Amino acid sequence: MSRWRSKPDVSWQEQAKKKAALEAVSLVKDGDIVGLGSGSTAAFSIEEIGDRIQKEKLKILGVPTSYQAFIHASAKAIPLTTLNEHPHLDIIIDGADQVDGALNLLKGRGGALTKEKIVASASQRRVYVVDETKIVNKLGTNQSVPVEVLPFAYPTIMLKISEMRGIPILREASKKAGPVITDNGNFVLDVDFGPIENPVELNCYLKTMPGVVETGIFAKIADIVYIGKRDLTIQRREQRPNKNT
Ligand code: A5P
Repeated sequence: MSRWRSKPDVSWQEQAKKKAALEAVSLVKDGDIVGLGSGSTAAFSIEEIGDRIQKEKLKILGVPTSYQAFIHASAKAIPLTTLNEHPHLDIIIDGADQVDGALNLLKGRGGALTKEKIVASASQRRVYVVDETKIVNKLGTNQSVPVEVLPFAYPTIMLKISEMRGIPILREASKKAGPVITDNGNFVLDVDFGPIENPVELNCYLKTMPGVVETGIFAKIADIVYIGKRDLTIQRREQRPNKNT
């Protein structure tokens, strides 16, 4: 084996994520327009969608939520489209960083939160896949909230967030000097709010600040969450139908 080839990751988490992602992809039907999520869990679903297109000769079009998803989907020969051509999607399958009991989510550790939320909002069915370590009582417990901001506005937004007792940190790039630049050309603030009592309210409040593009709080968005467990069983949790009322 080449010294450059990494060993396959066979931890239970990787297996659980993959199994749950495959379960989620079983919801995709021939003819669907599918939102392609970002991150390591969504990557398993992109892989499976590509394989199903080949094996079952499905006519599926994908809308990627990031350059990562775009590159992966292209490599898997998944035909792609845009919101311009298809402003309404049938389903999105994505990962998440945290999930609470009401199926509110925290997302954006990979910086793709804005397109992920836009594509989710365009989708009829919003499906998320996580392993059981992502389940929490309250979002924000030991996890910061990503907030995408216009570079011009970030000092003022940091000040305002500090005044509301959040602790914001400008996300630094690891293979580039300076801040992370998102796929949309913006900065990301990672804000420690501690456990969040009311995700809907916090999301709305942050979005009133000029220069805030989007937050990683996905409140009342998920319809179905597949949870890959340590024993490699899959749990499916579903939002009650009147989630928007
Ligand atoms: C990308 O910005 C994120 O929202 C990801 O969907 C989220 O961080 C989950 O990623 P993993 O599946 O890699 O944990």
